[in-house]
Amino acid sequence: MALNDEIARRRTFAIISHPDAGKTTLTEKLLLFGGAIHVAGAVKSNKIKKTATSDWMEIEKQRGISVATSVMGFNYGDYKINILDTPGHQDFAEDTYRTLTAVDSVIIVVDVAKGVERQTRKLMEVCRMRRTPVIIFVNKLDREGRDPFDILDELESELKIKVRPLSWPINIGEKFKGVYNIYENSLDLFTPDKQRVSERVEIDSVDDERVDEAVGETDAAKLREDLELIEGVYPEFNEQEYLDGTVAPVFFGSALNTFGVKELLDCFVKIAPSPRPIQAEEREVRPEEEGFSGFVFKIHANMDPNHRSCIAFVKICSGKFERNFPYRHVRSGKNLKFAAPTAFMAQKKSIVDEAYPGDIVGIPDTGNFKIGDTLTSGELLHFKGLPSFSPEMFKYIENADPMKSKQLDKGIQQLMDEGVAQLFTNQFNGRRIIGTVGQLQFEVIQYRLEHEYGAQCRWEPISLYKACWIESDDAEALAAFKKRKYQYMAVDREGRDVFLADSNYVLQMAQSDFPKIRFHFSSEF
Ligand code: G4P
Repeated sequence: MALNDEIARRRTFAIISHPDAGKTTLTEKLLLFGGAIHVAGAVKSNKIKKTATSDWMEIEKQRGISVATSVMGFNYGDYKINILDTPGHQDFAEDTYRTLTAVDSVIIVVDVAKGVERQTRKLMEVCRMRRTPVIIFVNKLDREGRDPFDILDELESELKIKVRPLSWPINIGEKFKGVYNIYENSLDLFTPDKQRVSERVEIDSVDDERVDEAVGETDAAKLREDLELIEGVYPEFNEQEYLDGTVAPVFFGSALNTFGVKELLDCFVKIAPSPRPIQAEEREVRPEEEGFSGFVFKIHANMDPNHRSCIAFVKICSGKFERNFPYRHVRSGKNLKFAAPTAFMAQKKSIVDEAYPGDIVGIPDTGNFKIGDTLTSGELLHFKGLPSFSPEMFKYIENADPMKSKQLDKGIQQLMDEGVAQLFTNQFNGRRIIGTVGQLQFEVIQYRLEHEYGAQCRWEPISLYKACWIESDDAEALAAFKKRKYQYMAVDREGRDVFLADSNYVLQMAQSDFPKIRFHFSSEF
């Protein structure tokens, strides 16, 4: 197949949601339609977490949450679909942000009873920043929940995006009868049965009397009324607006009952974008270019605890990736060949000979890669990733076993390369400070240092409000600031100056006392 055809058939996306909204269940059902698994409902949602992702990290088994981000590829009709899984727990939000740099679109799952929750809002902000096209799936219609019109209003105001329903529920909860598919003009009746896909009623339009026969006159009348209202309130669905990230189509269904999922998938493959051009610092890179390029968005260590190696997840941006071909690792300038790149099909990994834009390949690595690294056929390209944001929690990390300081240093370095957390070194006393988004990351670091590197660490408290990257055009002003704040000056891993403010007040004072200094709250400015 020609490169262009390979690109056109690929759909690479992530499903994001607040924990428990049904992301795992929906993923499972999508895999079912792709033939990647065979019995709907037979695989419990957390079972799939275990086979698909959790084996990769011991800690996940213990905690039962998805720490890792995995990739599941499958074919659906002529399409090749790659789902990038994201950790549900908010302490790993950075991991999810990075995954969003590797997808071309997103499906957001919302629980009909709970509406939009905090984490979904934050993830949507990242999608908005990147103009990622979004489809929303309102889940759990078989349960009592909110009025669908209220949900639409909430989606618009909370996610700050225009919405357009492309399907519409007939009742909800116990009385839930099915969904009218506005996109395809068809009616699907609900049978609460996890093993079977719903029943479709052939109709010409919503005015067809077969609608009345199928759902009863009262519900049919209500459906027509609702649809009229929808047509009046929401402008017609415009695919370009969706692709521009300004309108999100909305589907209703029940992932657990495999209801509304096929409709979502069928519409998704039609309207969701194939791999799009990506902006590198040097220029825009188009997927159909002959030269290969890709970037590392995730590094995962020690998936097999018996072999100490990492897997770097590379998103292919352009050209064709080939096994055993020398590619340029832009940061080091070295040419590297990969003998055993893996592709992720269904829940299995296998060695691939070639891969195309939109695909993710896993490259076994022994410490060459960092998050954000670019690989090319030779050209000097740097893809713009997402910046690191100021962490929210900080602790000193200390060596608890003096015999193992080398192991500790190596462990910290590799975990930071993976992007598990951020490291700052105090310029005054040389103490190392780890910054995270949540408490759990400290536990993960401690656990992994011990189990993967044989090192022991101890945390000591430090009260900090924010880390700010600072710069100034005035060298003297910068030197004066650093002198005054010497106890609070640190360097990040790239050696850039970071001011660790211990309170909002101190930060505001510093900003007003030193007008020539620019304070940044993310690492790219
Ligand atoms: P997550 O990955 O977003 O965290 O959610 P997950 O799919 O694990 O689903 C969370 C819970 O919601 C699960 O129940 C799942 O069965 C249930 N669920 C998902 N979709 C639907 C739906 O359409 N209707 C109803 N009624 N429930 C749904 P659980 O009891 O936590 O887990 P399990 O024991 O069923 O696996």
